[in-house]
Amino acid sequence: MKNVKAIIFDAYGTLFDVNSAAEKCKSKIGDKWESFANYWRTTQLEYTWLRSLMNRHKDFWAITEDSLDKSMKVFKIDPSMRNELLDLYKILSTFPEVKEVLQNLKKKDYKLAILSNGTPSLLNELVKSNNLDNIFNDIFSIEEVKVYKPNSKVYDIPIKKYQIKKNEVAYLSANTWDVSAGGNYGFNTVWVNRSNNIFDNLDYKPKNEVKNLKQLLDIA
Ligand code: LAC
Repeated sequence: MKNVKAIIFDAYGTLFDVNSAAEKCKSKIGDKWESFANYWRTTQLEYTWLRSLMNRHKDFWAITEDSLDKSMKVFKIDPSMRNELLDLYKILSTFPEVKEVLQNLKKKDYKLAILSNGTPSLLNELVKSNNLDNIFNDIFSIEEVKVYKPNSKVYDIPIKKYQIKKNEVAYLSANTWDVSAGGNYGFNTVWVNRSNNIFDNLDYKPKNEVKNLKQLLDIA
């Protein structure tokens, strides 16, 4: 990727597997664990968008709890599982290749950063529990601007900090809407398409598409 000075990663769904909390409880939840996990994630994202549009900010942890409460009711999950699911959400696993790829990228001359909806303490705990300390130059949280992605104020955060051009950022996300927003903003984008999904129709097509982060090493 020519001219790229910073590689910036979305966190949830891109580095960290958002379904891993419910998956670790699948023996208790049963076959519906995956539909439940997907519903929880979708509701959580909807709440971020709606709260930003309504100008009623609540941090990502509060939104994660609110969306879990609704999802548990919809899927009739035993209320006694609430704390276990929330505790597991604080230590979500990375996707399998993530650590090795990040360690390889660290040897190259890029700034490496996370840019996420998560709160600083949530993101720090995720990085720590997955032994990714010392990899990232910065962990940027939307709490700095109190509005969620895809508001452009979020994508401004690393540009202001690094004083670089938008197209000097390689922005990686598995979330199609986040790639569309980052791309429309002016980032060089890499869509991490782990499950062979269809891209959005939002006036943008990703500059690069990879199946997982390993392929990033071929283009970085
Ligand atoms: C994040 C969400 C969008 O980490 O996955 O910002």
